[in-house]
Amino acid sequence: MDFADKVVFVTGAGQGMGQAIVHHFGVAGAKVVAADINADAAAAAVAGFDDRGLALACNVADPASVKAAFAAVAERFGGVDIVVNSAGVGSVDAFLDTPDDNWMRVVGVNLTGTFLCCREGARLMRQCGAKGAIINVSSTAAMSGEGPSHYCASKAGVMGLTRSIARELAASGIRVNTIVPGPTNTPMMAGIPDEWMQSMIKAIPLGRMCEPEEIARVAAFLASDDAGFITGQNIAVNGGMAFI
Ligand SMILES: NC(=O)c1ccc[n+]([C@@H]2O[C@H](COP(=O)([O-])OP(=O)(O)OC[C@H]3O[C@@H](n4cnc5c(N)ncnc54)[C@H](O)[C@@H]3O)[C@@H](O)[C@H]2O)c1
Repeated sequence: MDFADKVVFVTGAGQGMGQAIVHHFGVAGAKVVAADINADAAAAAVAGFDDRGLALACNVADPASVKAAFAAVAERFGGVDIVVNSAGVGSVDAFLDTPDDNWMRVVGVNLTGTFLCCREGARLMRQCGAKGAIINVSSTAAMSGEGPSHYCASKAGVMGLTRSIARELAASGIRVNTIVPGPTNTPMMAGIPDEWMQSMIKAIPLGRMCEPEEIARVAAFLASDDAGFITGQNIAVNGGMAFI
């Protein structure tokens, strides 16, 4: 797929899926914006793309930070065509022991952060006249409930957000979809004990974890004209472990 002249804004771009997504679109000719709370990691993600790359330190949970990020994109590239919301955090908390701060942090990054980047991204798309695409990232845990309450609630919220704004933004020619990954080989999964990992892999009919590049390829498809009649959908990428 050729994304020459397209401007692609990716959150959580410093590592894992976000980094793979920046790389994929960059290799396909796009101008790539790597936004991450980790400024050094964002810079490394676009290091190979010279003038086509822009690294931004951005906390997606902070409205002012997100506004400033999209203002910087407008100034540098004049608009945005594709927004991918990959930034996400987890926290291992039993429900009854969940500290308020952890609930606020996980929901703040995963759901509010996605909302803020969808809103500012769509505003800029409207402003520059782009018939754009937004891709959000949920999780199989949102459907199975196999995960902490804040994480599952935030990821289920992303699906509802996607459906609502897909309807509203359709009149502007902007499509919005959600990728729903199963276990994927990223730093987020690195700390999981091997025993837990093995039992997770056993539950995946294709018998392995997803690779970040496989998520990037689905993001590229959803952003492309080939997906021109797809909006508001959940696209599962999970090796057959669950059905939407
Ligand atoms: N890895 C998996 O198995 C898996 C499965 C299902 C869904 N997901 C979801 O996929 C997305 C990507 O996951 P990953 O495995 O690549 O994660 P990761 O932890 O490897 O990378 C997440 C990135 O987000 C950045 N980030 C965290 N908080 C941020 C904030 N407030 N503002 C901006 N950036 C912030 C981090 O610095 C990091 O670079 C997440 O939304 C995650 O919940 C992951």
